[in-house]
Amino acid sequence: MYYPEELVEEVRERNDIVDVIGGYVRLKRSGANYMGLCPFHNEKSPSFSVSGTKQMYHCFGCGVGGNVFTFLMEYENYTFAEALKVLAERAGIRLPEEEYSAEARRQADLRSRLLEVNKEAGRYYYYQLKSERGGNAWSYLTGRGLTDQTIAHFGLGYAGRLGNELYRYLKGKGYPDELLVKSGLITVDEKRGAADKFWNRVMFPIMDVNNRVIGFGGRVMGDGMPKYLNSPETPIFDKSRSLYGLNYARQSRKNSILLCEGYMDVIALHQAGFTNAAASLGTAFTGLQAALLSRYAKEVYLTYDSDEAGVKAALRAIPILREAGLTAKVINMKPYKDPDEFIKALGAEAFGKRIQEAVNSFYFEIDVLREQFNLEDPEEKTRFFNEIAKKLLVFTEELERNNYMEAIARRYQVSYDNLRRLVNRQGAMQSVVIRSDRRERRQENTKKDKAREGMMQSQSLLLTWLAEDGELFGRIREIISPKDFTEGLCREVAEMAFRQCESGGPLRPADLISRFESKEEQAQAAELFSASLGELSGRGREKALAETVYRIKKNSLDAESRRAAESGDGQALQRIIMEQANLRKLHISLKNG
Ligand code: GTP
Ligand code: MN
Repeated sequence: MYYPEELVEEVRERNDIVDVIGGYVRLKRSGANYMGLCPFHNEKSPSFSVSGTKQMYHCFGCGVGGNVFTFLMEYENYTFAEALKVLAERAGIRLPEEEYSAEARRQADLRSRLLEVNKEAGRYYYYQLKSERGGNAWSYLTGRGLTDQTIAHFGLGYAGRLGNELYRYLKGKGYPDELLVKSGLITVDEKRGAADKFWNRVMFPIMDVNNRVIGFGGRVMGDGMPKYLNSPETPIFDKSRSLYGLNYARQSRKNSILLCEGYMDVIALHQAGFTNAAASLGTAFTGLQAALLSRYAKEVYLTYDSDEAGVKAALRAIPILREAGLTAKVINMKPYKDPDEFIKALGAEAFGKRIQEAVNSFYFEIDVLREQFNLEDPEEKTRFFNEIAKKLLVFTEELERNNYMEAIARRYQVSYDNLRRLVNRQGAMQSVVIRSDRRERRQENTKKDKAREGMMQSQSLLLTWLAEDGELFGRIREIISPKDFTEGLCREVAEMAFRQCESGGPLRPADLISRFESKEEQAQAAELFSASLGELSGRGREKALAETVYRIKKNSLDAESRRAAESGDGQALQRIIMEQANLRKLHISLKNG
């Protein structure tokens, strides 16, 4: 949907960026700006700056930046349209009714029709399970301990053995082949014609958090291969951002999630009263899934299989959960393989106890690590503690790290001071690596790069000052023009900035940022308006200004004269030489003035 620029601008102006970001980040006033801990990277001291006058943000640590729209798009993962909608609502502005573009409508159409096909298929499979032909499947499921209610609650079903039943059923409902193929439930082969993907399997419909069927898993009844077959990825089925059972788990109001590996684990847990269980879909756990979980819970209990593969999967999931700000604990299922088997053998109460005894994910990692070392051997023991020290560095909060150090010291009978020394040494080694990395990179920079960096800094400074000082434009307009800005995005930004100033208004960086489409360009533009030389007194500032204007103009004239000399344009060269002479005079008078 296209919204007129003035409307976008109105929505932006009516949402003060300090208020909006203040709702997410604790901001403290610092001079003309507000500072806080950057929400886009991990840091201990604030380098995230929000400017009320410029209506933009910029992080001096990681380089993100933009206006109020960019912030919501990055923080909430909104599209521009979504950010606009939210902010319009916040400011009480009515947006014109949504009008889909033809392409957007086609996409939305395809998605809703695929959802329909999946829903119909789910109904069909369920009906088959309940019918006489589904007798074997029914005995298989009840034989595994599932009750009628559980089967109905999860909408389990049965895909018959004929090989094209579902196809004929859906055709009868009038769905075209093309759509059925896109659903992944039907395949079309030139020789054999249309065929069902699933046959003679018990079916597990996979639902999104809004209870809509987006795909299926199908299990053979017995020992066939493959044990499970899943719907392929489709426009409505993205395995990396879906979790089986989350539609129910999110409503359990437990503030924690039991994260398992299998469909049957989820179902068995729900039946036993643990309605906060969910599982990934036979693929490795992803950051997108962690982000999804973090909307509904603060704590995740890893309820993975107790075999080696399960331990490995848990070790991979832990940092992903940590990264998403979730606390992870690991449930010990031994001597049983998975929660389904555990509950069948020992019952719900025993499982509840295991939840209470779940170990903090950090200790779990350490315990697994411990297995790899023979602690009787002093050398291996030292290596073990060095590994622990490395791991302790993931805790950037000092208090948290100290707590873990104390606990580890107690658990492995090593002195706290020794452990702390190891941690400090590992920390120093890591930062030395980072620093020498940086130094090397810097040395690679040629002198020319440095000169360009300096020029970039000067041009960015002037743009920043133009935004901060409404009078400045009038003072420099005779000397500097947009074509004097040579570096990176500076030219484009300067052109827009000069146009704004010439039309009499104040320079509005946030409006200007809106004109750039990509996140990267928006961040760069925000950075151009965030240059600073630190606090400068009136006279110091005037001197810096004169110097900056001089440098920018000189750089531009020098480039122009090189071009004129190359093309042999004597007249232009004459004019440039005059301008250069004038500039030197101006520079001297500015410096002394
Ligand atoms: P049951 O044997 O029925 O108890 O299965 P389970 O739920 O315990 O599953 P298991 O631990 O064997 O596997 C965990 C998950 O991995 C399953 O729920 C499936 O999503 C997936 N999976 C297992 N086997 C296969 C397979 O052969 N192919 C595919 N694509 N996925 C599988
Ligand atoms: Mn199992």
